[in-house]
Amino acid sequence: MTKIAVLAGDGIGPEIVAQALKVLEALDVSFDFEPAPVGGAGYAVAGHPLPAATLALAQAADAVLFGAVGDWKYDTLPRELRPEQAILGLRKHLQLFANLRPAVLYAELASASSLKPEIVADLDILIVRELSGDIYFGQPRGIRLVLDGAFKDCREGFDTMRYSESEVRRIAQVAFQAAQKRSKRLTSVDKANVLETSQLWRETVIDVARDYPDVELSHLYVDNAAMQLVRAPKAFDVIVTGNLFGDILSDQAAMLTGSIGMLPSASLSAGHKGLYEPAHGSAPDIAGQDLANPLATILSAAMMLRYSLQQPQQADRIEAAVKKVLAQGLRTADIWTPGTHKVGTQAMGDAVVKALA
Ligand code: NAI
Ligand code: MG
Repeated sequence: MTKIAVLAGDGIGPEIVAQALKVLEALDVSFDFEPAPVGGAGYAVAGHPLPAATLALAQAADAVLFGAVGDWKYDTLPRELRPEQAILGLRKHLQLFANLRPAVLYAELASASSLKPEIVADLDILIVRELSGDIYFGQPRGIRLVLDGAFKDCREGFDTMRYSESEVRRIAQVAFQAAQKRSKRLTSVDKANVLETSQLWRETVIDVARDYPDVELSHLYVDNAAMQLVRAPKAFDVIVTGNLFGDILSDQAAMLTGSIGMLPSASLSAGHKGLYEPAHGSAPDIAGQDLANPLATILSAAMMLRYSLQQPQQADRIEAAVKKVLAQGLRTADIWTPGTHKVGTQAMGDAVVKALA
């Protein structure tokens, strides 16, 4: 049976994950859900944000459904024991190198964006961000003393931007395959006019493109991509980029939608294993009050069905059900507008279950 590690975590994590489980249980697929503590909850029971048993479960599972981690009460812990370290540990041990962040704005919610509705209504793009390399991990790095001018010592910080051909190749393959499942257009974002790393990136992506003749490939420099994302975001389908550029562009794309509670994400390794989580955090300010929007987590479960469990029809069913409840006018507080019907976390989960066709 398909084994899913359920790591609900902290804050609103348990509430929103419970709604996603409700929806998964309503499908005619059998799953073996195995819960385990992570983040602050992991620290509370095992003295570590990623307890060994939790990691072992995640490694043995077909996929990981993750809520969120982090709570103010852990802010004084040393960095290696902070809840957020659990995500870094899972990325590293599960070798999650591809981060898929859709930015979808349902027409009903277009007024949530700070951009004009006609620019963003029905936006549906996917950012594929490389997650394991680039300037965040390249060596050497550090802070050292240098001579500034003739005599004066001064400190300088330095990092190394680095990508190997094989790292670019594998993220490009994920992006081309994702594009094949969508409208078959891929934009690769780099800074090949000034960076050697980006030149290799571009050459490699062009080479990988030979294996995907049905996908139309284009290239943009990152500064231009940032402009186009705001000017005409609907012109994009899938965007592939490195860790640094992807970090920034995926947050920018998320804000085009204006609905942090609606955005799912997937982090994939080679093979089909993946970790699925909402793009938002643990929202301790609204935890335990039945206020959180569970749709980002429910949509993450749909991504899990599509990318790890090879059940695209079930993923489609969930996404259609989410559209349907929005069309019915149901809204959690974060996306509520006058004239729509405000519901809590659990009622939203129940409504999605009911809307499954
Ligand atoms: P956040 O995403 O948790 O919250 C930002 C704002 O959005 C808050 O006002 C919150 O109430 C609201 N919000 C977030 N998700 C929502 C939802 N589903 N429904 C309705 N409203 C929602 O980011 P913040 O406040 O910066 O961080 C809070 C904690 O979460 C911190 O400990 C942070 O480190 C952690 N965090 C964890 C992440 C993860 O588990 N992957 C990612 C980002 C932050
Ligand atoms: Mg970021």
